[in-house]
Amino acid sequence: MKKFTVVIAGGGSTYTPGIVMMLLDNADRFPLKKLTLYDNDMERQKVLGEALNITLKEQAPEIEYSYTTDPATAFADADFCFAHIRVGKYEMREKDEKIPLKHGVVGQETCGPGGIAYGMRSITGMIELIDFMESYAPNCWMLNYSNPAAIVAEACRVLRPKSKVLNICDMPVGTMRRMSQIIGKTPKDLEVRYFGLNHFGWWTSVKDKNGYEYLPQIRDYVAKNGYLTQIEVDTQHMDQSWQETHKKAKDLLAVDPRFLPNTYLKYYFYPDYVVNHSDISYTRTNEVIDGREKEVFSTARRIIEKGTADGSEFSIGSHATFIVDLARAIAFNTHERMVMIVENNGAITNFDRHAMVEVSCIVGTDGPEPLTQGIIPEFERALMYQQVTVEKLVVQAYIEGSYQKLWQALILSKTVPSAKVAKAVLDDLIEANKGYWPELK
Ligand code: NAD
Ligand code: G6P
Ligand code: MN
Repeated sequence: MKKFTVVIAGGGSTYTPGIVMMLLDNADRFPLKKLTLYDNDMERQKVLGEALNITLKEQAPEIEYSYTTDPATAFADADFCFAHIRVGKYEMREKDEKIPLKHGVVGQETCGPGGIAYGMRSITGMIELIDFMESYAPNCWMLNYSNPAAIVAEACRVLRPKSKVLNICDMPVGTMRRMSQIIGKTPKDLEVRYFGLNHFGWWTSVKDKNGYEYLPQIRDYVAKNGYLTQIEVDTQHMDQSWQETHKKAKDLLAVDPRFLPNTYLKYYFYPDYVVNHSDISYTRTNEVIDGREKEVFSTARRIIEKGTADGSEFSIGSHATFIVDLARAIAFNTHERMVMIVENNGAITNFDRHAMVEVSCIVGTDGPEPLTQGIIPEFERALMYQQVTVEKLVVQAYIEGSYQKLWQALILSKTVPSAKVAKAVLDDLIEANKGYWPELK
């Protein structure tokens, strides 16, 4: 079996150890020749880099392993780049959340003004990463989690249309884990139909391999409990705020009970509720810093101190499972069915063919082949059209350096109540993002 060379970009990400552990677990299905971590912050990456060095020496000494801040070294011979960078790190995510909230608007990593601000930062980092890949490893595929995936995907479509970049999200996979628990199955038993945009979509069918439709049974459960399950189903999305999000899916379902909603619709359907239940002095970023980041980095420091990974466990969540399955699908032409972000190109019949949509796809050696979703109802179509236009305007504003277009993007976001509020939020975001955004005129 061929052995693969993988570079993880955003080596200092809280998700890096989980992915490495998943790769080790899958050594027989996806063998590694070489693994490199790449980050532009050596101080942060070094902690995880050293802990994983110890782990790999003990558990898989045959893999050539290193970590670096040099892109040429990082990408040399790479078959796959697993990317999850956060331009501006948690320091800027906190501002994305708190600035809109100060104006009474949803403050969220990927939705509303916070997501727009993050998008304006991410495009630069992502395009740089793609260009590194194409210079140093022209045959490499980039499987990219870096958020906001919807805006990043649109930027890739416009700025690097021929690049081998697949933008992905773990939320459908995470929610499908919950669905499978609800009906007493495993995620791999399920075949779904799904349409929408990233963090903005709906399941129209959830079947087992025999073709039995479980959507009505799951709907009855979600109508009462949301996606809240009785037992722990994942290591991700388990904090209190996430539990509330899973529960809130009940109220998302009520809006259109024909389909099962993506949890992120909460920011668009119930922005007033979200704002009223937010604490500007302690947002999700603070919870992540005190939770996931602390846990991952203290596990790493413990491994370094003891000089062994024995007894220390990095956990593997849906994030790691999905990206390794996807790499396998491409490497071995498995034709696995996965929810992916792709150019619409007719998959949703009555929607812009150039929009980046999220739909069920069959994935093989040439990447994802979208499954036709047919005609979608007016309500979802109108919501999607409004949101995809926000995403397109952000990318245009970035390219043209247009204040006007970015203001329009904020006005059009369903999370923002008026042009006046949009302007006030935008002006604060511009100030906070100096050095990260292109200059706007
Ligand atoms: P993190 O801050 O722990 O890690 C991000 C790393 O990226 C940091 O080490 C940082 O130094 C590095 N980085 C920033 N800019 C860079 C650049 N230009 N080049 C190279 N490295 C750079 O963040 P995290 O919470 O672990 O999340 C990582 C990313 O994954 C975020 O973008 C997050 O939104 C995304 N994510 C996406 C999904 C999805 O569904 N698409 C799921 C989970 C996480
Ligand atoms: C889900 C989404 C990601 C998002 C993450 C945020 O996995 O699909 O796009 O980045 O949640 O999680 P966090 O724990 O950092 O708030
Ligand atoms: Mn996501």
